[in-house]
Amino acid sequence: MAENQWTTVDRYLTDHVVPSDAALDEALHAIEQAGLPAISVSPNLGKLLYLYARMISARNVLEIGTLGAYSTIWLARAAGSNGRVITLEADPKHAQVARANIARAGLSSIIDLRLGRASETLTALAAEGAGPFDLTFIDADKVSTVDYFNWALEHSHAGSLIIVDNVVRDGAVADPGSTDASVKGMQRFFERLAGESRVEATALQTVGSKGYDGFALARVLADRR
Ligand code: SAH
Ligand code: DHB
Ligand code: MG
Repeated sequence: MAENQWTTVDRYLTDHVVPSDAALDEALHAIEQAGLPAISVSPNLGKLLYLYARMISARNVLEIGTLGAYSTIWLARAAGSNGRVITLEADPKHAQVARANIARAGLSSIIDLRLGRASETLTALAAEGAGPFDLTFIDADKVSTVDYFNWALEHSHAGSLIIVDNVVRDGAVADPGSTDASVKGMQRFFERLAGESRVEATALQTVGSKGYDGFALARVLADRR
């Protein structure tokens, strides 16, 4: 039972439930051609984000961590032509690739990409009175996950979803002695989640073409008072 079997099965599943799509395929190709890291969500996780957004009829979506906009395109498809996705990216080269992918997908009017460190662009969004967001996807620097979660929770409404990528990292999340800053960031996030009564949450381990990782899903219970 090895990583190459996970990839084979991922391909089998994807072949059956994730129809090939020119804009998404071209986005992945452009990400690779530009030398960006191969850390976009897998097609089946992209479709899961899309389905979660569809299940709650999400119109106002926030993403923290764009890379080449692969996950962004999935979210924008779910939000539909009356929807809006704000996506935050710190690296100008990633943002440039993302903008080209968004334009090629015909989604420039739905997706609002903000270039800058999320700590700053989130402050600007708060000042603009942005949100509340129906769905927030957190997928940027893992050290700051707990801060992004706090921000998302303050800019949600009852029934909003907050989804966090990369919470397992090869199982390291359960190692209390880990000295890896990203792992410690996720452990801080889980401690925060455990103590937060305003959400109901779960987390799942995943294996597949991207190895062994996982994601967390939280549903906001009550509007912020
Ligand atoms: N969500 C994308 C993958 C994001 S990869 C997808 O699945 O398709 C993580 C991205 O977060 C990278 O592009 C990285 O440059 C960006 N990032 C890292 N730290 C950040 C920060 N502090 N603010 C904004 N973006 C950041
Ligand atoms: C990394 C980041 C991600 O968002 C991901 O899905 C996988 C890996 C990383 O920074 O290594
Ligand atoms: Mg990720």
